[in-house]
Amino acid sequence: MTRTADMTSRSTSDASPFPLALWTDAVYSRSAIPATLATGHPIAGQAAEELDPPLHGRRVPLASPTLRLSPPSHSPASLSDPALLAALLHYSYGLLQHDLTRGGWPLHRAVASARCRYPSELTLVTPTAAFRFDPLHHQLVKMDGEMTGHQAACPGAARFVVVTSRFARTQRLYGDYAPRLCAQEAGMLLGAVHLVAAALGLRTRPGQDQETLRGLCAGRLTALGEHPMGHLEILPSVHHPQDRAWPPPDLASVLRTRHSGAMLFDPEPAFAPGELAVDLGAALAAAPFTHFSCHVLVQRVAGLTPGHYVHSGDRLCQVGEGDPLAMLEQIGQSEGRVSMNFRSTACVAYIAVRRGEAVARYGADAFRRVHLVAGAAAHLLCVVAARHGLAARIHNGYDATTAERLLELAPDEETVLFQVAIGTPRPGAAFRVPVVF
Ligand SMILES: Cc1cc2nc3c(=O)[nH]c(=O)nc-3n(C[C@H](O)[C@H](O)[C@H](O)COP(=O)(O)O)c2cc1C
Repeated sequence: MTRTADMTSRSTSDASPFPLALWTDAVYSRSAIPATLATGHPIAGQAAEELDPPLHGRRVPLASPTLRLSPPSHSPASLSDPALLAALLHYSYGLLQHDLTRGGWPLHRAVASARCRYPSELTLVTPTAAFRFDPLHHQLVKMDGEMTGHQAACPGAARFVVVTSRFARTQRLYGDYAPRLCAQEAGMLLGAVHLVAAALGLRTRPGQDQETLRGLCAGRLTALGEHPMGHLEILPSVHHPQDRAWPPPDLASVLRTRHSGAMLFDPEPAFAPGELAVDLGAALAAAPFTHFSCHVLVQRVAGLTPGHYVHSGDRLCQVGEGDPLAMLEQIGQSEGRVSMNFRSTACVAYIAVRRGEAVARYGADAFRRVHLVAGAAAHLLCVVAARHGLAARIHNGYDATTAERLLELAPDEETVLFQVAIGTPRPGAAFRVPVVF
């Protein structure tokens, strides 16, 4: 039996879905990855149907999402506006592209997902009911509470957006490595909701607190091994200046074209525009959480000398000069091989968190918390890249210990959770068409 051949394996049976050993087995090494991953086949014995049941409940159609994301001109932004509600959900986690290439992964959503497994779920919680987003049908599914017609039972009355994760979807391929990928994606999704809400003029307060999260999820986890991951509180909206640097006015079209590049990340060795760095600075300054650091190894960005940059305030500041290729290839190793063509990237960003402090304070739950922080920032990097016509590839093929050393992170304290390579995509075989609801 492989180590993850049944779903009672360590990561789902533990009290915490994120056992402390995950730091060693899935971040500092990739020993949790089963050998079957290379074949692309699911682990034997993984029965998808029971572990990943379809959603049941009354279906509520959503309005067509708007083609632009901007605050309403005459009234405060509110989820009770059907077009705004639809836009928030669609551009945060909706189905945006259909890839017609044979043998590829056909369905692509607003956030990246390891091998397009999309383990996350998005739920709107009102004072009396909960509505789960079904991205494939662009609908909501009512989960609980009475359908009274009272305003509080309408999705527009939502006070919280909740992110949960059905580990089983990713576990089928990735075994015990899945909790890491699910935590990464949950953070990215939280960042996506925060970003799209801001573009629509909605204020949200992202939360990491476990008690609030458990309360919001009580009785609402629909599958075995579905885990509460994070939440955002919807706050009364305020006037947003139209001339702000971030989110950008063209966000909707940017999100519709965001992508992770070809199967093997091998971009054109072309210069990225200098505005990329300006946007990276502005986007990270507006990230929902602040306790992360972002290091960028720059090879080809107009106006920047090659070298090592660190995000500070709303800018990238240079801390080291010189061609970073050797560093990129030493960090970007998986199973003893360089994991992508770093010779032609424009730049590669690394998101790091203070793991030591977080574990001391929150124990096993630190894993979920720091991944929310880092994931939210990582999604912003992908969006900024897309805004400049570039592909951004989240790639877990990196050595966390080497990254710590070469990026000069605080020893035994800071850990890189995301490696994001950015480059100019080559024309490829993929043929993606936009999905319109
Ligand atoms: C958390 C996470 C980890 C990923 N790890 C890898 C990886 O190790 N190697 C790789 O080639 N792609 C990796 N990817 C890229 C995904 O496979 C890619 O995002 C997916 O195919 C969806 O494509 P799209 O973003 O263009 O829609 C990862 C993506 C995410 C979100």
